[in-house]
Amino acid sequence: KANKKLQILEINKIAANYFFWELGEQSGEIALTYLKKRGLSDEVIRRFGLGFAPKDGRKLYRYLKEKGYSDGLLMESGLFSADERNGAYCKFWNRVMFPIMDANSRVIGFGGRVMGEGEPKYLNSPETLLFDKSRNLYGLNYARKSKAGYLIVCEGYMDVIALQKAGFTGAVASLGTAFTSGQASLLRRYVDQVYLTYDSDDAGTRAALRALPIIKEAGISGKIIRMDPYKDPDELINKEGAEGFQKRIDEAENGFMYSLKVLMREYDMDSPEGKTKYMNAVAERLTTFEEEIERNNYIEAVAKAYHVEYEDLKQLVKKAALRLG
Ligand code: UTP
Ligand code: MN
Ligand code: MN
Ligand code: MN
Ligand code: MN
Repeated sequence: KANKKLQILEINKIAANYFFWELGEQSGEIALTYLKKRGLSDEVIRRFGLGFAPKDGRKLYRYLKEKGYSDGLLMESGLFSADERNGAYCKFWNRVMFPIMDANSRVIGFGGRVMGEGEPKYLNSPETLLFDKSRNLYGLNYARKSKAGYLIVCEGYMDVIALQKAGFTGAVASLGTAFTSGQASLLRRYVDQVYLTYDSDDAGTRAALRALPIIKEAGISGKIIRMDPYKDPDELINKEGAEGFQKRIDEAENGFMYSLKVLMREYDMDSPEGKTKYMNAVAERLTTFEEEIERNNYIEAVAKAYHVEYEDLKQLVKKAALRLG
């Protein structure tokens, strides 16, 4: 089995080199143009090993067969599909390819993007012997060497590339929106401070809120960076440059305080009744801090931010704690 893993690693490496090579071919020109249009230089393309999966999905299959890999192994690599009519073919075709590397720069899987519109926008390798999405972070092979003292967690491939390119070397992506405890422990090996910068849409907001307790559980302090009015870090950097993102870092919000702001959307803050209900909900959340000092610090911060008396809020938290048992 260990041997099998090594062989799949080999297959992935060969495939990554092949996709990269295809990008330089005549037929890869549309992909290269696409990447250039998105602001990626040859150097960045090489650094992240970006490539192109051509329309003919049989090509990579034949290439690997020639090298002697068995059908069984090729299927286990997650790169291929097979059906009666076509036999085996690469499931990535006519896509821009992003090799996914583990912390040691070994290619463990791929993401492939359609150029322009199409579904799914990104196709990713399935789980294989090597690839466990929930235990890896895209970009970590470079980000782990960052001297910044913190890591930046964002959603996507293009965000990581844009951030690292702009000098935010500690950028990684959770490969989609669901952040896992496996990813949190991975982060904890390198830093105790993380900035979460998910997309500004509802899915991104929810994902950031869900990630906060997972990060805290791992012993990492998490702050939130919002991207509005832009979609995501890639877009912000394209519009405002590195200075724009640095400003967001400087203004990053404590995760708990941010979650209270999001909670506010559920209440009618213009009425005394709604505001009271909201403060009670806030008090309930404050009970989750088990350490007295930490809880008091947050009560203080909330009292200040919401212009209520510290002692009043403290009473409210006490009542909430009794109510919740
Ligand atoms: P987004 O939809 O935010 O895409 O998904 P993006 O990263 O901004 O991509 P561009 O800028 O349009 O190219 C964020 C991440 O979620 C995963 C990918 O890892 C993507 O980078 N994703 C998204 C998928 O795996 N499949 C999808 O269909 C969409
Ligand atoms: Mn998104
Ligand atoms: Mn996005
Ligand atoms: Mn994007
Ligand atoms: Mn104020």
